[in-house]
Formats: sequence, structure tokens, C-alpha cells
Amino acid sequence: MKILVINGPNLNMLGKRNKEHYGTDTLESIEQALTGKGRALGCELIFFQSNHEGGIIDFIQEKTSGADGILINPGALTHYGYSLRDALVDCGLPVVEVHLSDINAREEWRKISVISDIAIKQISGLKTKSYLLGLEALAEHIGSRKKK
Ligand code: DQA
Repeated sequence: MKILVINGPNLNMLGKRNKEHYGTDTLESIEQALTGKGRALGCELIFFQSNHEGGIIDFIQEKTSGADGILINPGALTHYGYSLRDALVDCGLPVVEVHLSDINAREEWRKISVISDIAIKQISGLKTKSYLLGLEALAEHIGSRKKK
């Protein structure tokens, strides 16, 4: 199965951002950990990061065909990215939303996600593990649908 792994604004700066919230891993090391997990789960992963909502939407539109699901950390777009939300709905792929920090234990505005109700799952607050558990949940969901 083929999974698009998308990271939104500022996540290219992981390792330099607030370590208490986001941990010490860089995006590259998170992607390496995901590649290992993906291999074990039989998933091919296609990685993408952009600081621009439109760039993420272009990527989703271009790569939907042939993909089986999307693992996404939308960064701050989580809280207001309606056109990203629309693109995720329009592509029709199952989506898992992940966050390094616990968005429910921070500022009020971070508790709102415009993505969560269209995602099959939201995992938040487990740093890199959020991505690994998110990939597992997505692969399981896709696998169970393929069997039917
Ligand atoms: C984040 C949480 C967002 O509120 C924030 O804007 C980010 C990262 C997380 O992974 O914890 O950039 O998505």
C-alpha cells in the first residue's frame, strides 16, 4: 500500500523548535523512523513537507491517484486550514491526523482542529510516536478495507 506522509508549516524546523512541545527529533529522523515502520507494515511512503497551504493541496491533488491513504501533521493549518480540509475530503483517501505536542493541553485556539472530524483518527502528544502509531492505525484501516 502507498501512503502519503505530509507535514505542514514549520515542521521542517523540528529539532530547533520548542523541544518541550515537539521533542528533539528532526523531520528527517522522524521520516527515517517511519520508513522502518512502513517497511515492517508493507507500506511505501511518499514524504512531503511545505510551509504553504497551496503547495500541500497541489501535492494531494497530484498524488491522490495510486495512493491508499494520508498521514498528516498539518502544523498550524490544523486550526484554520479550510482549503486543506476541502482537499483532504475531495481526495477521498482515509486520513490520520497526528501531532507531536498535546494540542488539547495548550492554548485554547490549538484545541480546535478543522481536520479531526474528517480524519479516521487523531493522535496527539506522543512526539515521534504519534506518527508511528498513526501509520499503524492507517495501515490497519486500509488493510481491513482491502480485505472486504
Ligand atoms: C503541531 C501543533 C500545532 O498547533 C503547531 O502549530 C505545529 C505543530 C504538533 O505537531 O504538535 O506546528 O501540529
